[in-house]
Amino acid sequence: MLPEFSGAVAGMAERNLLTKVPSGVPRRAVLCPRLGKRCRLRFALPMQRILLESETDWQDWRNATRALVLAGVPPEEVQWAVRAHPDERSSQLPEGSAGFNLPRALVAIAALAFQARDPERFALLYRLVWRANAGEKVLEKTSDPDLRRAQSLAYAVRAEAHKMRTNVRFLPVEEDRYLGWYVPAHYVLEANAQLMAQRFPDVTFSILTPDGSAHWQAGTLRFGAGLAHVADDAALEKWWEANRVKLMRETHSGTSIPQAEPLDESPRAPDRPPIGPVVLPQRADAQLLDATHEAADCRRCHLFELATQTVFGEGPADAAAMFIGEQPGDQEDVIGRPFVGPAGQIMDRAMEEAGIDRRTVYITNAVKHFKFTPRGKRRIHQTPESPEIQACRFWLDVERVQLRPSLLVLMGGTAARAVMGRQVTITRERGRPIKMADGQTAFVTVHPSFLLRVPDEDAKAREYRAFVRDLEAVRKLLATL
Ligand code: URA
Repeated sequence: MLPEFSGAVAGMAERNLLTKVPSGVPRRAVLCPRLGKRCRLRFALPMQRILLESETDWQDWRNATRALVLAGVPPEEVQWAVRAHPDERSSQLPEGSAGFNLPRALVAIAALAFQARDPERFALLYRLVWRANAGEKVLEKTSDPDLRRAQSLAYAVRAEAHKMRTNVRFLPVEEDRYLGWYVPAHYVLEANAQLMAQRFPDVTFSILTPDGSAHWQAGTLRFGAGLAHVADDAALEKWWEANRVKLMRETHSGTSIPQAEPLDESPRAPDRPPIGPVVLPQRADAQLLDATHEAADCRRCHLFELATQTVFGEGPADAAAMFIGEQPGDQEDVIGRPFVGPAGQIMDRAMEEAGIDRRTVYITNAVKHFKFTPRGKRRIHQTPESPEIQACRFWLDVERVQLRPSLLVLMGGTAARAVMGRQVTITRERGRPIKMADGQTAFVTVHPSFLLRVPDEDAKAREYRAFVRDLEAVRKLLATL
C-alpha cells in the first residue's frame, strides 16, 4: 500500500467502483442516447467541484483524489480549481476508510507534474490515478496522451527546479541574510527551498518569486507572499527594506509539496557573491518571439514527424554570445527548451566555473527537432545529416540576423559544420577565435555530451577541464569584442 493513496476515508463499503455507485450517492434516470429511451443509468450527482487551497496544495489534491476514486466518481464528473475567495464552497468529499495501491513511479510523476504551471494538471493526474486504479497499466502505454502529457510536465518541472537552483542569485542584505528574486516557469519554489535549506543549513536566505516567497532562518523554513515585479538589484533591496517586517510577520511554516529530488549538481550557494546581477533586466525581442511561434509548425524537413516539438533557442535578445549545439536531446524534446538534460547540466557547471552567466547568453541548436530511432521504450539519438542541417539553417540564420551576436560558440561538429559550411576537425580548430566573412567571430569547442561519453574517469576529468578552459577563453574574448 502506498502511503500517498491510502488513509482514512471512513464508512465506504465498496472500493474501486468504476461502474457501481456507492450507497448514499444520489442516482437518477437519464435518456440513453444510443437506446433512445429512458433507462436506469446510475451515476453520482451533482458534479463534484473540488477547491484546493493553493496551486501547490498537493496534500488536499491527494486526499480528494483518494476519496473520489474510492467513491467511484469518474474524472468527467470532477472539476478542480484553486480557491479564489475564502467563501467559495468545495463539494463535500465522500467519507470512507480505505486505500488503494498505485505504482510508485506514477506517484513520482504525479508529484512532479503537480508543480507544473498548467491549470489542467489536477484533472489530468486524477484521470491517470482513476485509470490505474481501474487496473489499466497506464505506465506501459508509452504513447498514451495522458501519460505523455504528465511525463512532459514532470520533466519540465524537474528541469525548472534544476534551473532555479543553479541560476538563482543572492544579494547580501541586512541581518546576514541573502536575498534572491527569481521568476520560475513552474511552481518549484517550495520544493527547491526545502532542498536548499538542506544543502545550506547555516545560511539565512529568502527567495522571492511572483508566486510567493520562502525564508530559511535558524532551522525553520517559512513561506509567504511574493513579489511580482522588480526592476533591478537596487529596487529589490529598497523593496526588501520597506516590506520585510510585514512580509515576515505574515509567513507560515510548512508546505505540502514533496521535496524536489536531489540532483547531481552544485546549486549556487546563497553566500557566494553573484557573478551577475540578481535581477536581470527584461529584454524580450518581438521578432524573435514571432520566429519561435512560426518555427513551432516547421515542416522544412521530415524530423517534425517523430519529434514532440520544435525546440527553439532561448536567451536575451541582446546577448553578445550565441552558444550553438547539435540538436535537442530526449529531455529537451519533451520539455521544449535547449540544453536542460544531462548535456545541459554539465554545460551549466562548466559555464559557472568559467565565470559565464548562462542567463546572459543565447543558447540554441543547429537542428531544432530531435532526431532519433525508437527502440522499445527508448529513443536512440541519431546524428543529423546534411539535408536536415541545411533545412534548419533557415532558423539558425533567423536567430543570427535578429540577435547579431558578436561571438558564435560552436559546440561540436554539427554546429561547426552548420555555421562554417564545411567539415570542421574540432581538435584542430578548437580554442581560438575564427573571423567569419560577415564580421562575426566563431569559436569552436567540443559538444558537452562528448564529455558524458568519455569512458575513462581520468580522461573525462581532463576533457572537462579543457572544456572549462575553452569557456574561460570565450569569457575573455567576449570582453574584447
Ligand atoms: N545536445 C544538444 O546539442 N542540444 C541540446 O539542446 C541538448 C543536447
